[in-house]
Amino acid sequence: MKIEFHDSLDAESPRIVARIVDQDKLPADLPRAVAEGAKASRFTGKAGQVFDGFHEADGNVVRLALVGAGKKKDAGRLAALEKAGAALTAKYLTSGEKALAIDFSDSGLSAEDAAAVLMGARLRSWRWDTYRTRLRDEQKRTLKTIDAVGAPDGTQAAWEDARAVATGVEFTRELVAEPANVIYPQSFVERCQERLKGTGAEIQVLDEDEMRTLGMGALLGVGQGSRRDSKLLVIKWMGGNAGDKPTVFVGKGVTFDTGGISLKPGAGMEDMKWDMGGAGAVAGAMLALAGRKAKANIIGVCGLVENMPDGNAQRPGDVVTSMSGQTIEVINTDAEGRLVLCDALTWAQREFKPDTVVDLATLTGAMMIALGHEHGGVFSNDDALADNLLAAGKTSGDKLWRFPLAPEYDKLIDSPIADMKNVGPRWAGSITAAQYLQRFIEDGVNWAHCDIAGMVWADKPGATWDKGATGYGVRLIDRFVRDTVES
Ligand code: BES
Ligand code: MN
Ligand code: ZN
Repeated sequence: MKIEFHDSLDAESPRIVARIVDQDKLPADLPRAVAEGAKASRFTGKAGQVFDGFHEADGNVVRLALVGAGKKKDAGRLAALEKAGAALTAKYLTSGEKALAIDFSDSGLSAEDAAAVLMGARLRSWRWDTYRTRLRDEQKRTLKTIDAVGAPDGTQAAWEDARAVATGVEFTRELVAEPANVIYPQSFVERCQERLKGTGAEIQVLDEDEMRTLGMGALLGVGQGSRRDSKLLVIKWMGGNAGDKPTVFVGKGVTFDTGGISLKPGAGMEDMKWDMGGAGAVAGAMLALAGRKAKANIIGVCGLVENMPDGNAQRPGDVVTSMSGQTIEVINTDAEGRLVLCDALTWAQREFKPDTVVDLATLTGAMMIALGHEHGGVFSNDDALADNLLAAGKTSGDKLWRFPLAPEYDKLIDSPIADMKNVGPRWAGSITAAQYLQRFIEDGVNWAHCDIAGMVWADKPGATWDKGATGYGVRLIDRFVRDTVES
């Protein structure tokens, strides 16, 4: 979606003009047909409500859309404005119209408000139609441009910044939406290399031989049943002060999770193409941060593997040695995400000596049972870090909810043969997974783990996404970096 800025409506303006309306505050200057039509259809200006009106001006028919922004004083005003922008693109995306003007003059919105409307419009317009070669005309996307008309001073600058974030969200969605025959460790890396070229971010890739030399037996064990080589992808954006320790984000990038020899049931297994959603979020966030030239030193590390059953696959009961030296009894080859993350975490801590490490992973089905699709779960060894992430979640809309860590949970993963096993008992499955990861966190490191299993994919459209890949995590990371690292 292209966003263009214009001072005022003129003969060249699109045929659809939209106005943002506060709840129960229908503007007094509306053409009579639109005002009465809106009232008759019970349009009140609730956030995201759209009225599609028509009226005649100078002999031409103008399509005048009203979109609700909710009540002005509501907390969550920016979210409501995003929803308004999103509702417009959702409504007109396949309408046949190629362009839409949003008339901000007399809207009373600030630059930040207007940028939020544009952000919602842009995010909601994303679709991945690459493989749909037989779409009927009425299913095809037509809306390509939004003219922001009469936007308040500063909107363009605010949009420049927001656009970088939108681009990051879209990149994450693309990585998540692509099937596993297209996105596997090597092609994930290549797509990041293409997308990040020229942004100033630096990329490093570790192959299997290098990881073997480093002793990453846990990560390599997961990938050993796959024809695709595992990779560790590192993206560095050093936009902060030289010498400031970097903040590190680590993502689970299982490009397909069959469960391995502990094979998953067939029904719904196709969902496991998005088991790289944590790595996808990290990659998209790095693109966003580089795109907006964040004043922070941030490193993204993606553990990329494919988990397949095979004659060479690891077996339940195998004992593997992680880079940390700790040994793991692999009770269940389907609890592979933690095996990948533990080596990625160890490597990242030793390589970069960060104070703060945050991992994101579609780690457990249990997290979806607990929180559904409304929050990701966050676990942390540091209250301030947890609070900062929770706050970033609230502000960005990528919401989180905190879960506990405790020695009583930790002992549930002790093993009779190795230092630990990779699964605990049935109960508290998300917590024992987090306890497992915590065993790889080195002294003095502030760490948080975000289990985002319920968030990266949506079966129905949400406020700023269609069904499918949501791009969850990019705005969370971006907001955390703005508010905690950059300030
Ligand atoms: N990738 C899955 C978790 C998952 C399941 C994410 C459904 C999104 C939707 C993970 O690798 C997994 O298989 N976890 C197991 C752990 C169990 C074997 C202890 C699970 O949650 O069932
Ligand atoms: Mn699994
Ligand atoms: Zn998995």
